[in-house]
Amino acid sequence: MRLQLISLSLLFATVGFGADVAAGKTAYDAACKKCHGADGTPNPAIVKMMKVEMKHLGSKDVQSKSDAVLKKETLEGVGKMKAMPAVEKDVANILAFVRTLKQ
Ligand code: HEC
Repeated sequence: MRLQLISLSLLFATVGFGADVAAGKTAYDAACKKCHGADGTPNPAIVKMMKVEMKHLGSKDVQSKSDAVLKKETLEGVGKMKAMPAVEKDVANILAFVRTLKQ
């Protein structure tokens, strides 16, 4: 019984903390793509509309930020980007996907 409980919690730990790039892409496409493009390239219409300089998410400037900073900016917003608390449950997966955009 005890052993079963341990393996069950290990299973949940794996599911809970292993970031999933494919799931991250799905969540990114739904929540971020309209502004950051499919591959991290800023959408020119958004740049114009929001009158903002946007960096490619795969650029060195963005990729050199720590996981903690990128998660915080995603959830709490940064500069002219507003907070996106709705993606909280997907944020680890989104970050894993954003890491694949590195140029
Ligand atoms: C409504 C448009 C919009 C959406 C949707 C959006 N962003 Fe942004 N994002 C921006 C803008 C504009 C900036 C630049 C803000 C600034 O510098 O003033 C930005 C900046 C960022 C940055 C910081 C980049 C840097 O310059 O270091 C990160 C990281 C980021 N966004 C991640 C995300 C993620 C992940 C999502 C999806 C969960 C997302 N954003 C959704 C508009 C958006």
